[in-house]
Amino acid sequence: MTVEDLAARFPADFVWGAATASYQIEGAAKEGGRTPSIWDTFSAKPGAVLDGDTGEVATDHYHRMTEDVALMSELGLRAYRFSIAWPRVQPGAKGPANQAGVDFYSRLVDTLLGKGIQPVATLYHWDLPQELEDAGGWPNRETALRFGEYAALIGRALGDRVSVWTTLNEPWCTAFLGYGSGIHAPGRTEPAAALAAAHHLNLAHGLALQALRTEVGTDLTTSVTLNVHHVRPASQDPADVDAARRIDGIGNRVFLGPMLSGAYPEDLFRDTASITDWSFVHDGDTAAAHSGGIDVLGVNYYTPTVVAKWTGSGAKPVDTNHGITAGSPWLIDADIEFPEQPLPVTDMGWPVDPTGLRDLLLRLSGDYPGLAMMITENGAAYPDDSRPAGPLADDDRIAYLEGHIGAVADARDAGADVRGYFVWSLLDNFEWSYGYRKRFGIVHVDYPTGTRSWKDSARWYQRLLTAAAR
Ligand code: GCO
Repeated sequence: MTVEDLAARFPADFVWGAATASYQIEGAAKEGGRTPSIWDTFSAKPGAVLDGDTGEVATDHYHRMTEDVALMSELGLRAYRFSIAWPRVQPGAKGPANQAGVDFYSRLVDTLLGKGIQPVATLYHWDLPQELEDAGGWPNRETALRFGEYAALIGRALGDRVSVWTTLNEPWCTAFLGYGSGIHAPGRTEPAAALAAAHHLNLAHGLALQALRTEVGTDLTTSVTLNVHHVRPASQDPADVDAARRIDGIGNRVFLGPMLSGAYPEDLFRDTASITDWSFVHDGDTAAAHSGGIDVLGVNYYTPTVVAKWTGSGAKPVDTNHGITAGSPWLIDADIEFPEQPLPVTDMGWPVDPTGLRDLLLRLSGDYPGLAMMITENGAAYPDDSRPAGPLADDDRIAYLEGHIGAVADARDAGADVRGYFVWSLLDNFEWSYGYRKRFGIVHVDYPTGTRSWKDSARWYQRLLTAAAR
């Protein structure tokens, strides 16, 4: 199939974009009034991030924004998904907006609009102001209330030009990698706190919806971005099927339930009864988390998840992607394992399986009839720098993108209402606990100089978007 054939499978109004996140690309961690986030604190801890990398400079996007938007325009992006660093626009997470911080995003939005690129703003992509973590972090209900105020503040500042808003990016990672397995900031391993964090993120999402509707007005599209795990049981053995149900509950329905239906799934409470009594859920919270629902569900997909009941033989596989690390007190998964899948893997060790994306989209369509969706992240890390043909010759990444975009077309053909696709990522960037060692960009970044170079996948994506524009 040619790129043109692939493009022809999508309607003219399909939104083709690219995604990034503030802490992963901006740098300027101490400029313009920005105060520390939990990732500044966490990445400074010895051993927390590979090679001791931090987001202090990242890709220097803060100073190279105009150049990067020009690059987006040359690619032919119709939309650009970015996140707003809370500590940059509201230092200390209280009080008035920091005008210098707001001005950066205002310039970004104006530059995007000047190029005919729709800004898609994510309120929270993990850079919680450190002061809120010092006061308890997401396990503390206050954090959700502060988040609603922050949403109002930035909605007032940018709502006249930004109409598509995403409240949270992957709250699952925030709650379970940040407070469960501890491999993400703030690095805590407290299962009960992780579940409280998940609840307060649900509440924060709803409070932000309410705030945006007040401040942004009618031309508003609301969304949340979830890394919904496509969970497959390793076999139809009831033990494996039940293990998959449990992971689907803690991995997906813990957020889908409140945000899309206004209620937690009952089996989740049963599965976690040994960890918490969920007394942190106050009357009215799940209705607030729902707040009338969202316009579009952002779906981040990279790889499917195969689940089995742990046979108890041999060393239990360590799977940091699912909140499980050796010694993690994360009890719910004590008797669950994630078997190896006989598939090629990316540089993250993630099996490449586009059918997982197709099946996930059809599952969501079946569970939530009429649900509009966007693929808000899909892409792959490959060892570009060690490639014999050079770091820009990324045929492996092109193959990954082609296969997964084809899966989106397959899901659409089968009835899924998918309205856009954002490649992760526009630029190589700070890959959390992996630092700069993992490269997801379609554009290469030479970190010592900040020089941007188009990989072949950027040229391929440009051809796709050009064909799609016809
Ligand atoms: C996520 C985050 C991104 C990651 C990307 C690759 O989905 O984990 O939204 O910040 O960098 O997914 O892991």
